[in-house]
Amino acid sequence: MFKKKTVKDINLRGKTVLLRVDYNVPIKNGIIQDDFRIRQSLETIKYLISQECKIIICSHLGRPEGMDPSLSLRPVVLRLSKLLNKGVAFAPNLSSENINSEVKNLKSGQILLLENLRFNPGEDKDDDKFAKQLSELADIFVQDAFGVVHRYNASTVAVTKYLPSVAGLLLEREVDTITNVAQNPKKPLMVVVGGAKIADKIDILERFISMADYIMLGGAMANTFLKASGTEIGASKYDENELPLARRILQLAKTESKKRNFTLQLPFDVVVSKKMDSNTTLRIVDWSSYSLSEIESYPKRPPKRGSTVLSDEKIFDIGPFTGAYIAGVMQSMNTVIWNGTMGVTEVPSLITSTGPYSHGSELVLQAISGEFGHKPFSLVGGGDTAGFVQSKEMSANINHLSTGGGASLELLGGHKLPGVEALLDK
Ligand code: ADP
Ligand code: 3PG
Ligand code: MG
Repeated sequence: MFKKKTVKDINLRGKTVLLRVDYNVPIKNGIIQDDFRIRQSLETIKYLISQECKIIICSHLGRPEGMDPSLSLRPVVLRLSKLLNKGVAFAPNLSSENINSEVKNLKSGQILLLENLRFNPGEDKDDDKFAKQLSELADIFVQDAFGVVHRYNASTVAVTKYLPSVAGLLLEREVDTITNVAQNPKKPLMVVVGGAKIADKIDILERFISMADYIMLGGAMANTFLKASGTEIGASKYDENELPLARRILQLAKTESKKRNFTLQLPFDVVVSKKMDSNTTLRIVDWSSYSLSEIESYPKRPPKRGSTVLSDEKIFDIGPFTGAYIAGVMQSMNTVIWNGTMGVTEVPSLITSTGPYSHGSELVLQAISGEFGHKPFSLVGGGDTAGFVQSKEMSANINHLSTGGGASLELLGGHKLPGVEALLDK
């Protein structure tokens, strides 16, 4: 049961509301690649419209350092307006004079979207001054940005000091559903973690070792563990700072698997290329197989080129055998938590519907969806991961598709979310 007040617990009629959403959506050349997070925000916005509120919407986009036109929220205006079938105004300048005059012009049921909050350095720093400036625009603060409530930001924590603050309907649903899975997962439980936000997500793996029956790593997360275990990963993306923790987690997993039926598995084959490109040459590096000649000549000849990532190559996806193996393990799992893509899913293919580095993620998605027979209960999270599921039009097959990546993992790991804790209690 959600313990915080929501928009339904207070009188909002005719009030001016500052609504924090997570519109951190992939945008390429001004075009929104996936609008899942925008669509998930509509329920609360429609409720606020029904209450005749004046609605000021704010969000972050990406991780800009100061002003960066490529990370403007302007492209969201048109999409939001289309989805709501009503006009949406935009405040391109976050300075108070500018926004104040825009807010004065707002009428009941109208919407103003503010520019990327992270263009103001106060946002990331949970700065009181910036939070106060935002709070002066409205009567009430509504938090609906589940994807970012694990952070201490001006628009997640500091702002709640200055305004009565309640949860939106998406935030309530996300927290309720994910907490339920965290407390009572139907076992056996498999956790698949990939993606690139290594520092954000690695801590939680320690907790999953005691919770899960099977942990599978992919993406740049797996690269960090492969490196930590002494495997050559060439020029692949990994996190140098997290190597000691990765080593500790591998050791912990080893100890756990001696105690009970538990496995932490790294990819045993990967897809590599020299450039991240739609029409580059791909190679599969497979650490699990040996050619007959290698075995017969052992130890005279060095391992074949095929089983080493070269210094100028990068791992961009898990390999086909690892993908098939994950799909196989899933046949005996009752719950699967998937967070972070298995590879770089943003690169499109020139010929097929599946990009050159998307095959691993596609196999995981098919297995979770029950396409190989058994369908486990599934909780899938993360902006990019959810975007991938949407692009394959398979969201209907997922039991809960979360808008939050790091936030959903924190919650699954039993951690408190500062942006939720700061809201009014029921
Ligand atoms: P989510 O948004 O689902 O929470 P992350 O943001 O942690 O997930 O990770 C998704 C990102 O990880 C994608 O942009 C993808 O390109 C990147 N990624 C996945 N695998 C790799 C890899 N092997 N090398 C570099 N980047 C990767
Ligand atoms: C996300 O995409 O996970 C959220 O929008 C949070 O973004 P952040 O990791 O840059 O804070
Ligand atoms: Mg992401």
